[in-house]
Amino acid sequence: MESKDSNILEYMVLKNLSLLNYKNFETASFEFDSKINCLVGNNGVGKTNVLDAIYHLSFGKSYFNPITVQNIKHGEGFFVIEGNYDKKNREEKIIVSAKRGLKKIIKRNGKPYPRFSEHIGFLPLVIISPADRDLNCRGK
Ligand SMILES: Nc1ncnc2c1ncn2[C@@H]1O[C@H](COP(=O)(O)OP(=O)(O)O)[C@@H](O)[C@H]1O
Ligand SMILES: [Mg+2]
Repeated sequence: MESKDSNILEYMVLKNLSLLNYKNFETASFEFDSKINCLVGNNGVGKTNVLDAIYHLSFGKSYFNPITVQNIKHGEGFFVIEGNYDKKNREEKIIVSAKRGLKKIIKRNGKPYPRFSEHIGFLPLVIISPADRDLNCRGK
């Protein structure tokens, strides 16, 4: 029988991420630590784009630019984002791909979702950006 604590702490880790033609990245891959990760680099190298790619894996869209084709690297026809997760001791491979003129596809372990709504919530994620802080200031 599962203990109460193991129900609450749903273990989930993004182990690695690979990008193809996503925003400023032609090809890129990243390995992540299970605890804390820092992205360091000059302005414009793509730190926020990496976070947005991870957001894409959870929600099937960009946090910053909901127009899908604008997330394809300029001059290219498609993007692919792949993330490999450990979730409750199981390997989960999530792929989000988009091609100009075609419907976006989200696959879990090779199987495309018929409806994106079935995927939302599977990989819980929160993104906090400076824009959210600005909204709070206006609402005070
Ligand atoms: N669709 C795209 N194709 C090519 N480059 C893009 C695209 N979308 C954004 N970029 C580029 O990504 C860069 C910004 O990356 P960003 O993640 O905001 O950098 P950082 O957070 O490291 O400062 C800019 O140079 C911008 O032109
Ligand atoms: Mg940034």
